[in-house]
Amino acid sequence: MNARWVRRLLGVGRAEEVRRARVEEERDRAGLRAHLDADERAFLAEMERRSRMSHVPLGNCPPGVSYRVALSALDGTHAWWSAGTGSGKTRGAAALVASLLRALLLGEPIAVICVAMQGDLVDLVLRALAELLRRAPAKRRREVLERLLVARFFRGATLPPMNIFARSPHAPLLSQAQTLAEVIEHALGASLGSRQQTAATMLFARAIETGLSVNALRLLLNNPPALVTLAGPLSEPLVRAYLEQRFPRESAATTDGIASRLDRLLSLDAGLRGALAGPEAIDYTACFRPGSISCFDYSGSPLGGDDARRALGALTIHSLIAAALSSARRIEGQTILVVDEAQLALTSATMATLSTAVTTIRAARVGIHFINQSLAQLDRGFVQLLATNVTWRFLGRSGATDAGLSAEFLPRTGRIPKPRAPFAPVGERAEYLSRSEEETYWVQECGSLPRRTFFVMERSAPFGVRRLEAPEFDPPPWSAIPSDLRAEVERGATGVPREELIARARRAEDEALATHANAVHDDGEAPARRGRAPKVPVTPDAVTRAERWARKGRRTP
Ligand SMILES: Nc1ncnc2c1ncn2[C@@H]1O[C@H](COP(=O)(O)OP(=O)(O)O)[C@@H](O)[C@H]1O
Ligand SMILES: [Mg+2]
Repeated sequence: MNARWVRRLLGVGRAEEVRRARVEEERDRAGLRAHLDADERAFLAEMERRSRMSHVPLGNCPPGVSYRVALSALDGTHAWWSAGTGSGKTRGAAALVASLLRALLLGEPIAVICVAMQGDLVDLVLRALAELLRRAPAKRRREVLERLLVARFFRGATLPPMNIFARSPHAPLLSQAQTLAEVIEHALGASLGSRQQTAATMLFARAIETGLSVNALRLLLNNPPALVTLAGPLSEPLVRAYLEQRFPRESAATTDGIASRLDRLLSLDAGLRGALAGPEAIDYTACFRPGSISCFDYSGSPLGGDDARRALGALTIHSLIAAALSSARRIEGQTILVVDEAQLALTSATMATLSTAVTTIRAARVGIHFINQSLAQLDRGFVQLLATNVTWRFLGRSGATDAGLSAEFLPRTGRIPKPRAPFAPVGERAEYLSRSEEETYWVQECGSLPRRTFFVMERSAPFGVRRLEAPEFDPPPWSAIPSDLRAEVERGATGVPREELIARARRAEDEALATHANAVHDDGEAPARRGRAPKVPVTPDAVTRAERWARKGRRTP
């Protein structure tokens, strides 16, 4: 303004003033164009470079440049997708997985794991896989099917047996039992007291050591003395000491609390109950071997089954991460682990595991792709952890709160021209939005992103934030897949028909019932145990205690 008055005093006319302002503005705009061009050139050059490497396409950036990511860049690096529901996260991620499967079928030494807590990720991925296998040579098809694990907990006609009490090679006994106790406790109802926590940990450790399934343990909880007297070969002194000395003094409420949680898990779905009876367990280490494809699908959980889904989802994530980080695992290649609607599997125990994982799993060559709707659903500390540890951030249509929480990923160009009010005089120079105005601008842009469109921020890339349109992804429907191939893909290598699993559960449970019905005889002598665990001599102490327990009438057999 001042300058204008000075110019007036110096006799510069209005027309000259406008002319000068226009020149000035044009110069600024040229500067802006050069800056944007430089960014665009850097992007094009980088994409050109990546085209010469093994890569997967993520989608298109206007004006029609394919956004490529080198497979090597996905090795041990994490990604985070967030956007409102229906904005295309699952499809976008499924398209990425389908590209990875194509690379896997061509022999790239990668493993792919999908965990879908909700939605159709696994369905899309399996349909895409079926289509790829349909065209693959028969030998390759067989190889891939032999390495395929499909666990569609509430949907599949088959389920792999998954004894969750199978001894893990990746964690000490008590730590495995404690994780199980924590997850089951937090995911299935209000938290247990510390006393019940100990009880659950010790009982689970005992079940793990003696080869009891969760089904059998649940039945034995009706008869606590049997749990004491039917000792298998207990090698863990802490468990033995607990069972012999402290367990008989536990109140009925303790065992009831644990039993009711197991009931919720077991009553969810008959097939699932059969799968939990085992005896086999899922080999999580195998999921990380190059050429393996593993799908865990929790979508379609029955009404009221949210807690059980959380418990099972959390256990899957725990088991996968324990296997990934285990020193017992030989690392043979990179793995991409996609978790859709990750927030539905979070418990405090999972959060702790994931927090360790995102910072350490890089060395295990595992890259995790988190997908979730809203940042508000996630623990703040976890959001912070992700924000500092992901290499890729995909931000789709999001409300102002979520976009605001992701503001650190949004561009700060300082080069967004300020809109000029209609009929306002031409400024002396092109004016740009301030930092805070620019943030508001991008937050608004996020709110109006069309479906399938994401802002993509790639850490340490030589170019800035890109606007990405995910490819159209719609694998053929199952009806277009030959039915025998469909059955093979949906079953995977280890699936067992549900009816058979249900029969297995019945047998395992009958056996456990028979065992504990005979557990405490009038003379206090425990009979030979039928089933897997060998008969072991009963210590007189445990027998008297068991009798005392029965006499007290707390829990009569
Ligand atoms: N890349 C895509 N290709 C084809 N259809 C898409 C794509 N992205 C989204 N859609 C459509 O939008 C719907 C919602 O997409 P989805 O990926 O399930 O969203 P979100 O996971 O974000 O809730 C899909 O059912 C599909 O009809
Ligand atoms: Mg989804």
